[in-house]
Amino acid sequence: MATRPETRYRVRGGQPLQGTVFVQGAKNAALKMIAASLLADTGRTVLRNVPVIEDVRRAVELAQAVGASVKFHEAERTLVVDASELTSPVLPAEIARRFRASVLFVPALLHRLGEATIEGIGGCNLGSRSLDFHYRGFARLGATVDEGDATIRIKADRLKGAHLYLDTPSHTGTENLMMAAALAPGTTVIDNTAMEPEVLDVISFLSKMGADITGGGTGFVTVNGVEKLRAVEHTVMPDRIDAAVFAMAAAITGGELSLVGASLDHFGVVRWKLEQMGVEFSAQGAILQVRRERALRSINVITSPFPGFATDLQSPIMGLSTLADGTSYIRETIFDGRYTLVGELNKMGAKVEVADNAAIVHGPTVLKGAEVVAHDLRSGIALILAGLAAEGETVVAPGYMIDRGHASVAARLTTLGADIDVEMAVNTP
Ligand code: EPU
Repeated sequence: MATRPETRYRVRGGQPLQGTVFVQGAKNAALKMIAASLLADTGRTVLRNVPVIEDVRRAVELAQAVGASVKFHEAERTLVVDASELTSPVLPAEIARRFRASVLFVPALLHRLGEATIEGIGGCNLGSRSLDFHYRGFARLGATVDEGDATIRIKADRLKGAHLYLDTPSHTGTENLMMAAALAPGTTVIDNTAMEPEVLDVISFLSKMGADITGGGTGFVTVNGVEKLRAVEHTVMPDRIDAAVFAMAAAITGGELSLVGASLDHFGVVRWKLEQMGVEFSAQGAILQVRRERALRSINVITSPFPGFATDLQSPIMGLSTLADGTSYIRETIFDGRYTLVGELNKMGAKVEVADNAAIVHGPTVLKGAEVVAHDLRSGIALILAGLAAEGETVVAPGYMIDRGHASVAARLTTLGADIDVEMAVNTP
């Protein structure tokens, strides 16, 4: 049986963070751009400011698996993709099974090879809520979608423009259907599209490639299909989730940070919620200064699509609210069951309960170091934040969860005065 290195983070809390932090490039834009770069059948795409995270490495592996030549120059955060030859329509199980964004490679495979096969997907997936908007959209554009026991096979001799809609403004759904429509002759209109800043960055990338897309940011996107897309150079926008996590790191430790590459415009409601809690922001030219001096106040949060409170920051703000004076109410509306953090925070001495699909946080509590589990990326980074504020040592595992979406967490936090390290252990799965 193969062994794989497992990592865990050890955090000893109590240091107010100070200094300058460099916000990484946006994961949820970069992943889509890697997939979109396969739409260009000549030339080389250069993506800059690509975050050095595990999800990007998975996307690179997928692009390579279908035949693209991809080099990730990690030190330069630059990715070079040459997709002149795609050789396989199969997105292999060992990656696709644990990487939901695999479906983003379907449009390029359909346009380039006339078919795409996603392996390792459970039989119920097609009819389930999670990716149905994507498959329905491909079908309306003229593809046939066949669900096997553990495989989905999508075929299309030629996609054609059509009127599409999303039941809810799905972030990846919007991007994926735009990619599918970009090379489909005729006009595609997509109703109820997502307005996240990353969606706009993906539109700007596709437009540079030669796509004809209008209506970004309005909720209704029109795509006029073009003959060909070309390989271009693009700098990925900064990651607003990473930026807000560092703002919360300043807040939870009572410190002061200068964020390079953060824009308050991308925070949406998150800005106002953090200000209500007592976090102070000041934009100093291109630098965003964040500090927290007063006691934290409790907060009510309801997650919703941009510019509402980002679901990806629900866990981090739950961690922060354990220190706030009073009762906080946090309601998740995008992903059911995103409350796995509750049990872990309670291991650290927090008093959080879930009732009527909301988390109720009774603060303030003094957090105490404990061994805790990162059930997903965002609960993992929330536990790192909690560990920064806790007495004693907090051990967060598996580290892979955090490394999926946040780059060089230990190194960046250490520079700011945190006492954190990442350790390798060898586990047998
Ligand atoms: N949904 C469906 N059917 C679909 C697509 C979505 O029912 O075909 C439902 C989902 O189950 C969910 C809701 O619609 O309840 C919203 O899902 P959405 O499609 O907007 O999410 P996503 O595009 O799959 C992206 C990010 C997530 C982020 C959400 C919301 C990427 C790769 N992922 O997911 O990021 O939470 O948008 O903003 O862009 C993360 O970074 O930790 C993360 C989970």
